[in-house]
Amino acid sequence: AETKLWGGRFTKPTNEIVEEFTASIQFDQKLAAQDIKGSLAHVKMLGRQGIIPEADAAKIADGLLAVQAKLMQGELQFSVQHEDVHMNVEKHLLDEIGPVGGKLHTGRSRNDQVALDMHLYLKEEVAEIAGLLVRLVEVLAEKAESHLDVIIPGYTHLQRAQPVLLAHHLLAYAGMFRRDVERLLDAQKRIDMMPLGSGALAGTTFPVDREFVAEELGFARVYENSMDAVSDRDFILEFLSAASILMMHLSRFCEELVLWSSTEFGFVELDDAYCTGSSIMPQKKNPDVAELIRGKTGRVYGNLFGLLTVLKGLPLAYNKDLQEDKEGMFDTVETLKTSLLLFAGMIETMHVRRENVEKAVREDFSNATDLADYLVRKGLPFRQAHEVIGKLVLFCITEGKFLADVTMEEYKDASELFEADLYEAIDVRTVVNVRNSLGGTGTESVKRQLVQVKEWLAGF
Ligand code: ARG
Repeated sequence: AETKLWGGRFTKPTNEIVEEFTASIQFDQKLAAQDIKGSLAHVKMLGRQGIIPEADAAKIADGLLAVQAKLMQGELQFSVQHEDVHMNVEKHLLDEIGPVGGKLHTGRSRNDQVALDMHLYLKEEVAEIAGLLVRLVEVLAEKAESHLDVIIPGYTHLQRAQPVLLAHHLLAYAGMFRRDVERLLDAQKRIDMMPLGSGALAGTTFPVDREFVAEELGFARVYENSMDAVSDRDFILEFLSAASILMMHLSRFCEELVLWSSTEFGFVELDDAYCTGSSIMPQKKNPDVAELIRGKTGRVYGNLFGLLTVLKGLPLAYNKDLQEDKEGMFDTVETLKTSLLLFAGMIETMHVRRENVEKAVREDFSNATDLADYLVRKGLPFRQAHEVIGKLVLFCITEGKFLADVTMEEYKDASELFEADLYEAIDVRTVVNVRNSLGGTGTESVKRQLVQVKEWLAGF
């Protein structure tokens, strides 16, 4: 076996299973680009500060660029013998330029190095995820705007409650996703911190310039405390928390799409491109994408709880447990990116079955509150009005009709206060459009919301 970069103190080779068990290269090779980028900034600083000769720094930088080129060509080999991405890259550097490459690790430890790599990685990915979310908000706004005339049943307890504009329903989700963007961008403030130069835990004896490295790498600030810098994983937790909340929002929406696309609801038809079939039942068209995004919410929550549990009870500073921070983070990033992309496409291509939703809102009692309000306007106390309309609904159910079908005579029997204008008051368009209170479902209110969403979108 090849000698380890840390082999000096050892007299025996590592047990093979231990080698495999303690290695992280199987998954942290995903950080190779960030690792090289960080090393380039570090070595530039070492040269500038005179910690190593400028000529050596230049050789190392060239060597790193050669390794980077191989990586980009997919030619870089990783080996479990070199444990993790940091030592694999360093080994390649040594192969490339010889022993002078050994000066790269001056004033640095894998502990601050791995933290740096993850800050670099997450900063990029979070920006990309926020971008995908912004795009989703845009898709929702477009869908809302092109369906401003569509009224759907609004639910509480999954029972028909009051009719609402489909656009209002869609913009409710736009509100959630906007908060998700804000949460991610807020987490980004803590992701955007530079840990390198902290050494293993206590700082370093060399006159490093951490501010310079931060600037080279585009970080807003440096960690002020070296022990905090190497053991902090809050920035990943914040990402995973924001991710969990975001997946929860997607999952709720997915649940509604599964319901809405069922024969029982029939409110929407998802595009063929976003559905799959059954191997046995020829008639089936299943909303798999919506179901799977709903399902994947579980693994994102799991990743959050996994890391919270890893961190609980860890003494300062670095502990090998921290190596367990990566897979859940990678998995969450991939899950979010795919889910957001597919979800936006699914909404964009979704067909609203106008005939069905119109029928649905005509054939229910979701205008009952408005009929009670009508009596209130005629002077009846709300509690009494509620009772009168409750009885009328019961009457309708036994007669097999809806409030719009009740005759004037029958209305007069229920209350002398009813006049012919009641029919206008319970028309579904009236019911929706009288709700123009701030944030309400009336068309004017929804248009105001659309303006606000567009103003928000213009900020990106
Ligand atoms: N592979 C390690 C990790 O992911 C890098 C840091 C290792 N440091 C150490 N002292 N073993 O956490």
